[in-house]
Parts: sequence; structure tokens; C-alpha cells
Amino acid sequence: MKIKIINGPNLNMLGIREVGVYGKLNLYDINKEIKSKANEYKIIVDFYQSNHEGGIIDEIHSCYNKYDGIIINPGAYTHYSYAIRDAIAAVSVPTIEVHLSDIQNREDFRKISVVEDVCVEQFKGKGLLSYIEALEYLYKNNK
Ligand code: DQA
Repeated sequence: MKIKIINGPNLNMLGIREVGVYGKLNLYDINKEIKSKANEYKIIVDFYQSNHEGGIIDEIHSCYNKYDGIIINPGAYTHYSYAIRDAIAAVSVPTIEVHLSDIQNREDFRKISVVEDVCVEQFKGKGLLSYIEALEYLYKNNK
């Protein structure tokens, strides 16, 4: 099983950025933990991060016919990128939306996710655990 982990804008700043909201772990630490859980399940995981919408879209397209699942934290693009939404819909690779914070209990603009309806599940508000639960979900639901 092969899963791509995609992180969007400002997630390269984890560990520095608003630690009260996003926690102290940086993206390297988070990816290391995901990799170690993936090893337990014998899942191959590849990682991608970009601050650019087009880069994220290209990466989603590149998963077509190559990956069994995508775990994506689109960052602020979650709330308004119809282009990322359409890319997820285009590739028909089971995709899980994740967020470190609980987007339902923050500013109003974060309550809307435009990718939610094209994703098979959403895990939020649990920091690193949101990613781990997404990985477990894909593993358990892999056909
Ligand atoms: C986030 C939540 C978004 O609203 C925010 O713009 C982010 C991170 C999260 O992981 O909690 O960049 O996706």
C-alpha cells in the first residue's frame, strides 16, 4: 500500500508558528512519526509540502494510478481552494482531510472546508494524532 502525505502552506513553519494552536512538533517530527507508524503497517509513505496552490494540485495529479490513498492538510487553502477540491475529485484516489487544530472551534472562516465533500473522511483537532488516525483509516479501509 502506498500513501502520499501532502501538507499545504505554512505547515513548513510548524514548531515556530503559533505553537499554542499547532503544537511544538515541526513537520519533520510529524513526518517521522507517520513514517514509523506506516512501517508497522508495511505502508510506503511519501511526503510533499508546498506553499503554492499549483504545486499541491500537480502533486495530487501525480498520485493518479500510483497511490492507494492521499492524506492532505491543505492549510488555509482548505477554506477556499476550489482548484484543490477539483484536483482531489479528478484523481479518484481515496483522500483524507486532516487538520492539527479543530477548525470547527476557531474563527468563522475556518468552519468551512471546500474539500470536505470530496474527501472520504476528516480528522481534526488532534495534532499529530489527526495524521495517525487518517493513516489507520486508510489502512483499515484499503480494498
Ligand atoms: C490547519 C487549519 C487551517 O485553518 C490553517 O490555515 C492551517 C492549518 C490545521 O492543520 O489546523 O494552516 O489546516
